[in-house]
Amino acid sequence: MVKGYVILGLLSAAFALVGTCVCSSSSSSRFDDLFQPSWALDHFTYQGDVLNMKLDNYSGAGFSSKSKYLFGKVTVQIKLVEGDSAGTVTAYYMSSDGPYHNEFDFEFLGNTTGEPYLVQTNVYVNGVGNREQRLNLWFDPTKDFHSYSILWNHRQVVFLVDETPVRVHTNLEHKGIPYPKDQPMGVYSSIWNADDWATQGGRVKTDWSKGPFIASYTGFQIDGCKCPDSVASRCAAASGDPKQFWWDQPTMSELNVHQSHQLLWVRANHMVYDYCSDTARFPATPLECQHHQH
Ligand SMILES: *[C@@H]1O[C@H](CO)[C@@H](O)[C@H](O)[C@H]1NC(C)=O
Ligand SMILES: *[C@@H]1O[C@H](CO)[C@@H](O)[C@H](O)[C@H]1NC(C)=O
Repeated sequence: MVKGYVILGLLSAAFALVGTCVCSSSSSSRFDDLFQPSWALDHFTYQGDVLNMKLDNYSGAGFSSKSKYLFGKVTVQIKLVEGDSAGTVTAYYMSSDGPYHNEFDFEFLGNTTGEPYLVQTNVYVNGVGNREQRLNLWFDPTKDFHSYSILWNHRQVVFLVDETPVRVHTNLEHKGIPYPKDQPMGVYSSIWNADDWATQGGRVKTDWSKGPFIASYTGFQIDGCKCPDSVASRCAAASGDPKQFWWDQPTMSELNVHQSHQLLWVRANHMVYDYCSDTARFPATPLECQHHQH
């Protein structure tokens, strides 16, 4: 009996030290509410609800979320660099910190005028990436804003373009495959010069006379479990019953029938590279590819 109380006491003391993960559903179209510039502040301009971030021959630029999150959904509307964007990469991603970090990436690879952007996605688990997929889009991403989202819950990570799923990374822990679930992640975006690899395998270089290269953003939305910085690493333990959040409801544990069809359509018509089928690079099929993900 007494022993029980002591353990309870210790537990609640530990809990108080750890703090709790505040589940906050933040929804805002204002950049400042959720994000802050993280480098090259002079490469940012604001027009109403639109943020422009530029790359020139002096610098790229980047922004990051003010908080870190453990599960939820992040959406940003982006209009990519118009005209000649060859050599440039605009990245939008979630990442945790440290050498064994997790990361979910959208990287938009620019192209010469009139040639299509490529969207590269990647997933890092415990510091290991090498899970690239590449697709082209069914619209010109430089003409209008389109929404790009990452849904992250205990069962799956879903990459969405205008709410159409383009990639699913499924939790296969029951097969012994690690799944990102206990490191809070920040949300980031940046634009930089990557002309050593980005466009047509690095053959096309950035033409600085066509700059500055501007990516525009609006419609920022984060609906997630927000983790106070000081306790971020312990957030997982404190986040309680996952079922209380909409993104962990049973219906969110896998794609619905309509979404599954959408994903099949994207893969059949727009995918240009999938690490899962790159046998030159991976003679042994990566484990998670053997249990196919859709
Ligand atoms: C750029 O355009 C070329 C020619 O259409 C295409 O092969 C390539 O995949 C496009 N994207 C990138 C990033 O190179
Ligand atoms: C950057 O580009 C501008 C315009 O093309 C040019 O005038 C300037 O000298 C360049 N600066 C550097 C550091 O290359």
